[in-house]
Amino acid sequence: MAILVLGGAGYIGSHTVYELLDAGRDVVVADNLVTGFRAAVPSQARFYQADIRDRAAMDRLFETEQIDGVIHFAAFSQVGESMTDPLKYYDNNLHGTMVLLQSMTDHGVDKIVFSSTAATYGEPEQIPILETDAATPTNCYGETKLAMEHMMSWTSRAHGLRYVALRYFNACGAHPGGAIGEAHDPETHLIPLILQVPGGKREKVFIFGDDYPTRDGTCVRDYIHVTDLAQAHILALDYLLRGGENNVFNLGNGVGFTVKEVIDTARRVTGHPIPAEVCERRAGDPAQLVASSEKAKSVLGWKPRYDDLSTIISSAWQWHSTHPNGYGG
Ligand code: UFG
Repeated sequence: MAILVLGGAGYIGSHTVYELLDAGRDVVVADNLVTGFRAAVPSQARFYQADIRDRAAMDRLFETEQIDGVIHFAAFSQVGESMTDPLKYYDNNLHGTMVLLQSMTDHGVDKIVFSSTAATYGEPEQIPILETDAATPTNCYGETKLAMEHMMSWTSRAHGLRYVALRYFNACGAHPGGAIGEAHDPETHLIPLILQVPGGKREKVFIFGDDYPTRDGTCVRDYIHVTDLAQAHILALDYLLRGGENNVFNLGNGVGFTVKEVIDTARRVTGHPIPAEVCERRAGDPAQLVASSEKAKSVLGWKPRYDDLSTIISSAWQWHSTHPNGYGG
């Protein structure tokens, strides 16, 4: 029996494929390659170029392969774009997931682990954030991810599907082996943008606001290594395979760093001065997002290994300095 990884050519998906293969699992990857990269998928995984919105393609997959469980990363994930083009997000994230669940239900595949996000919480009511806190997204991306969670829940009641939603905080870093890493176009995330400065691709980094109510005025985020996220997916799938109930887990380190602290750490790691300039706040950024991941630790037995920001940034730098154009060389 195989594990189907949808969106397995993307950033977090490809890292999960590597961890699954390392754990000796039989892995099938499907990706439409709109934002993913064929080169990110190792040859030991069986690859299908397919879109989750394509019902015939999903049916063919479940008819060709013996799928024990699904890990679903196939979604758009840019907050800013979701505000200017919300229907693109409803189409891929919600309509796509609906088609996928229809096909899974019809083929008797009843276990799914999927990417959710800290963006489901919106402006947090307390720090650290617990899974039981109010979920009131402030952007369309978070709204579609929360709606995906609800879709799973109703499908579970009607058809016996079992699911785990993993609410990631700030995914970062790269595979320690150096073969895969983060490659977005356009890049919007803080750590890869910072590393473009020592990489010679930009002159300085912009700090989006320094008047937040935080220790140095810049936003605080909980940075979690992509390999730790990948491990959590495997643990969540095994939890479902053991008969675990539907569940939602936060995934973060539980430690917050300001934007200025991240830049300072990158300066130390790379040995480059990395000039930074403060500009206006970015619309929709909460001041602080820090997870409580106690539930993932106690229920799934998850233990993040990369809890040190320097190590996380070093792994990202190893990737970006050797792949200045991502998978393009
Ligand atoms: N930032 C800058 N300058 C930049 C880029 C980012 O100062 O050039 C700041 C942002 O304002 C934010 C922090 O760096 O305070 C991190 O920003 P990212 O864009 O890297 O990440 P976000 O926290 O905005 O987004 C992450 C995930 C989203 C998820 C969101 C939840 O990438 O998928 O958390 O709010 F939706």
